[in-house]
Amino acid sequence: MDKNFYITTPIYYPSAKPHMGHAYSSIAADFFARFKIIDDYKVHFLTGTDEHGLKIQRSAERAGETPQKFCDEISKTFRDLSDTLNLCNTDFIRTTEERHKKTVQYLWSELEKNDDIYLSNYSGWYSVSDEAFYSEDEIEEIDGKKIAISSKSPVEWIEEESYFFRLSKWEKPLLKYYEDNPDFIYPESRRNEVISFVKSGLKDLSVSRKSFSWGIPVPSNKNHVIYVWLDALTNYLSALNYPNKDDELFKKFWPASIHLIGKDILRFHAVYWPAFLLAAKIEVPKRVYGHGWILSGEEKMSKSKGNILDPLEIIEEYGLDPLRYYLIKEVSFGNDGNISQDRLEDCINSDLANNYGNLCQRVTAFAIKNCDGKIPSEIKFLDEDLFILDKYKKNLDNIRSKIDHQNINFYIDYIVNSLFEANKYFNDQEPWKKKDDQIRLNTIVYTTLEIVRKISFLLYPIIPESSLKALKIFDINEDQIKLNSISDNEYLNKGNNINKIDILFKKIEKNND
Ligand code: ME8
Ligand code: MG
Repeated sequence: MDKNFYITTPIYYPSAKPHMGHAYSSIAADFFARFKIIDDYKVHFLTGTDEHGLKIQRSAERAGETPQKFCDEISKTFRDLSDTLNLCNTDFIRTTEERHKKTVQYLWSELEKNDDIYLSNYSGWYSVSDEAFYSEDEIEEIDGKKIAISSKSPVEWIEEESYFFRLSKWEKPLLKYYEDNPDFIYPESRRNEVISFVKSGLKDLSVSRKSFSWGIPVPSNKNHVIYVWLDALTNYLSALNYPNKDDELFKKFWPASIHLIGKDILRFHAVYWPAFLLAAKIEVPKRVYGHGWILSGEEKMSKSKGNILDPLEIIEEYGLDPLRYYLIKEVSFGNDGNISQDRLEDCINSDLANNYGNLCQRVTAFAIKNCDGKIPSEIKFLDEDLFILDKYKKNLDNIRSKIDHQNINFYIDYIVNSLFEANKYFNDQEPWKKKDDQIRLNTIVYTTLEIVRKISFLLYPIIPESSLKALKIFDINEDQIKLNSISDNEYLNKGNNINKIDILFKKIEKNND
């Protein structure tokens, strides 16, 4: 069975420093990557920055810097954010790197060789902010200004000589591809949007620009730079050292398992990218998942709108894992979601501090006092113990399958319910009243510790640092976290010492005025 998993985030524009929307995509990707790691997959996890094009050139000009120096500085803030978010990415790509330029120029030459590219003239609307062309029916005029309807960003008229990609030729093959591969575009609603867009007819796509220079030159005509999206999308291949088909990375990880992106850039990933790949006779990725937006009020949070929440400030105030947990739980995956500090605090207090942290503390404190500080050896499960323990085993394949459909909501609900049930079990069993029946007391403690262990394994992809802290109770380290072992009801070594751990999550004092 294929146990390789290649997941990518979008490569972000280093036109301004990262915000919560970028953090969101990266955390979601990290969740899937870590889930696959504990499920024994070889994981390649790519993120990075998209550094060419007019948007970046203009931002650099405004800052009074050369584009390269400007990108070096801001790309570093994205790289630092990956560390701050505790991402387990295995690579970070910058499109200004030599390895990337080579791949893009190779891909261009392939498309040209296959007669999928021709020289002509472009005239039409262009949004620099989106780096996207828009047709007349995709724009509107508000207060005398023309803007793109979908993104609300301003458009300008451009007219210049340009190379075109024969996108129209790929309309039918794309539709056939979507039909033959119903799992290519997720979620379902987005898939339908893409299909109706393609069915409405595809025009050839302008794929080069002549009026500015910040880009990768067209190999056969140095007066043109390659359109930034053809450049950017290719990062997913250049990070695997394509066109070197003998390369281990390429052999193992292409086609990508999933490109995780926001719905704003679905068209590029679900229409243009597979068309380029089909034209170049390269396998198409297995899935493109377009998640929803983090909103600020009613609007998309974005750099250009200035309504951003700084992930670094939130992490500074509350810590990383509470933010990770909150984003994963609060935003129904696939849909838009509003986030607020108030609800983040509720989430920390109820789920993390009360339901998880407190359970860990209670059972360890009780075991240290009543079981000699050791994982009980003499135990005898009753049906009620096995009933709660066996649920994990019974649900394991279902959990895997839900994750393969990016159903994060199921996963988090499963954990929340399990925590609720675990606390209820410990309360209902009243081990403090079983002091004259040591075996029963031991068994309740053992069962609860097993549940803490299983839930901590499941929480690892969401809150890795806190999960590892909790697993210190049992001296379990990161390499030992294996999803399979949540089926094992007697994983914990009987007689081993139980370690006391620090408080996992501090409750937030809330003033209710
Ligand atoms: O589009 N809510 O870069 P970008 C959720 N360079 N996610 C958000 C978000 C929000 N409010 N704002 C941004 C680009 N994102 C191109 C991509 S890929 C080959 C090239 C996330 O800096 C989301 O993943 O504008 C979105 O798709 C991405 O950041 C856009 O980042
Ligand atoms: Mg954007």
